[in-house]
Amino acid sequence: MTAENSRAQSYGPVSSSSRQGSCDSPAEGNGYSNGSLFSLQMSDRDFLRLSRFIYESCGINLPPGKKTMIEGRLRKRLRALGMDSFGRYCEFLFSPSGMQSEHVHMIDVVTTNKTDFFREPEHFDYLSKTVLPELVLSPGATRRRINVWSAACSTGEEPYTLSMVLAEFAQECSRFDFSVLATDISTVVLEKAALGIYEHERVIPVPMMLRKKYLLKSRHKEKGLVRIAPELRGYVRFRRLNFLDDDYGIDERMDVVFCRNALIYFDRPTQEKFVFRFLEHMRRGGYLFIGHSESLNGMELPLEQTAATVYRKL
Ligand SMILES: C[S@@+](CC[C@H](N)C(=O)[O-])C[C@H]1O[C@@H](n2cnc3c(N)ncnc32)[C@H](O)[C@@H]1O
Repeated sequence: MTAENSRAQSYGPVSSSSRQGSCDSPAEGNGYSNGSLFSLQMSDRDFLRLSRFIYESCGINLPPGKKTMIEGRLRKRLRALGMDSFGRYCEFLFSPSGMQSEHVHMIDVVTTNKTDFFREPEHFDYLSKTVLPELVLSPGATRRRINVWSAACSTGEEPYTLSMVLAEFAQECSRFDFSVLATDISTVVLEKAALGIYEHERVIPVPMMLRKKYLLKSRHKEKGLVRIAPELRGYVRFRRLNFLDDDYGIDERMDVVFCRNALIYFDRPTQEKFVFRFLEHMRRGGYLFIGHSESLNGMELPLEQTAATVYRKL
């Protein structure tokens, strides 16, 4: 039995009396109390080198105003590596061995992974009340299997929310089937996502009826944890994908793509380039959802807007 399986066995159904705890997403809350490291500052030259490198390797745009944030997040790496200056960290990062071993950790700490179950809930209503009926039930519809992609899935709350909504739809609609591909550039968030274990406080946005069906409560009540039920986890495949990759390695055509609250970290030309790449993997008539604070206005893309921050591929 794997460690993961043995952990899974200590979870039972969630009841309405679940105790609520607290949980931050892994790449957040990066501060710590090591006094000497806390006062370290990064030179403008090192910040420029780093921000250029981050832009080239994952498209994230870091203007000078983000220097303090990056210092805060990278202190965690300095501490892990036992280093006492950002200059030394940069020398290591840009060395051949640093490129091999540190690059991935650096990406993990510089990405912002905030997410929630049922975040921007109007999107999930629109999916179940408008998009799925149109794709699956309308007179001309030929699809019984829907491929959904949660692009930039962070710690898994979004793809598991999608799976709950799709599983509910499947109960009402015979012979309907679906799969969810969930990708992110950060390996740390993907590990947490695949585990599917969350503190109780994180699942408060999940309607109680769905909690009872799809979440299992830890038998060790003091831990205050819940786990996504195996049936639901079975619908979701997690994979590392950098939007800058030449080949996304996606074979199927997507009917629905959620890429929410990620575009905001890229500059306009990069956003347009990425959306264009998403469209290459979508079926005509498929839907793209972006975050409520994001916009595709002014971009030359084969899309029509059907609702706020929802687009259909032409
Ligand atoms: C704020 S989270 C959004 C999570 C979820 N989509 C939501 O709306 O709640 C942004 C995610 O984008 C991911 N990301 C950043 N740059 C990326 C890139 N170049 N390729 C793929 N994912 C990236 C980050 O790792 C992070 O998990």
